[in-house]
Amino acid sequence: MKVLIPAAGLGTRFLPATKAQPKEMLLVVDRPVIQYVVEEGLASAADEVVIINSHEKKAIEDHFSPDPDLVALLRARGKDAYADAVEQVGNYNVSYVYQEEALGLGHAIYCAHEKTAGEPFYVLLGDVIVPGNQMLPAMQRVSDEHGGASVIAVIPVPDEQVSRFGIIAGEAVSDDVWKIDKLVEKPKLEEAPSNLAVFGRYLLSPRVMELLADAKPTVGGEIQLTDALDAVLAEEEMYALIVDPADGFDTGTVESWLDTNNVLYKRAHG
Ligand code: G1P
Repeated sequence: MKVLIPAAGLGTRFLPATKAQPKEMLLVVDRPVIQYVVEEGLASAADEVVIINSHEKKAIEDHFSPDPDLVALLRARGKDAYADAVEQVGNYNVSYVYQEEALGLGHAIYCAHEKTAGEPFYVLLGDVIVPGNQMLPAMQRVSDEHGGASVIAVIPVPDEQVSRFGIIAGEAVSDDVWKIDKLVEKPKLEEAPSNLAVFGRYLLSPRVMELLADAKPTVGGEIQLTDALDAVLAEEEMYALIVDPADGFDTGTVESWLDTNNVLYKRAHG
């Protein structure tokens, strides 16, 4: 089972900061955003973490590659804690596939279809980080309780935010689990079937990957993952786990990235 981390987007909301630096490499306290996401993947039950990268974003691969010269220099200067941190991240077991054109999240995920090889897979979006790593095991438990069904994490959002997210329709089967019967990508408020928004953590059946092979661009001219999820509902059950918004930290806008830095810095340094 693989963890897929799409990272080939343009980082438009952070320009000009992301002109020469991938948005995934923006700092959150002491490490780049994508390091949290990779660490969450490595802590899960999956056997491989796959970054869906663009050839323009070499810095991401440099970050997860060994740098013995730097480690030796740091050790020679007695900076062992930094040497350990550099060594650790350089040894993370991460692999790459490439999205040649930014055609949408659904297209990015399909670029990894040979990796998932007909198995269920996780998708972790880098706009949110989950430093406690507790969300994927909770989603796996819901899937196991429902015959291996796909499970996506959702959070309640206020009315003014529903048009920024994928939104689900369905009915509650317990306090924190819904059975989904429809998904809509970035609906207008009056067309939104609920206030439960797709959060950025997915556990998906292999059928979703098959449907992405033929997916066409829709909202925003992009091939949307949400459309393939909606399509798979005609064939398979899918569940939503309502997660605690406090478990995840949004880094998708300048404002939320700054807030996340403040909260996590205070948490780490009192
Ligand atoms: C993507 C998904 C959307 C989801 C969101 C969560 O949108 O398409 O369904 O709610 O991530 O962050 P994006 O933020 O990439 O436009």
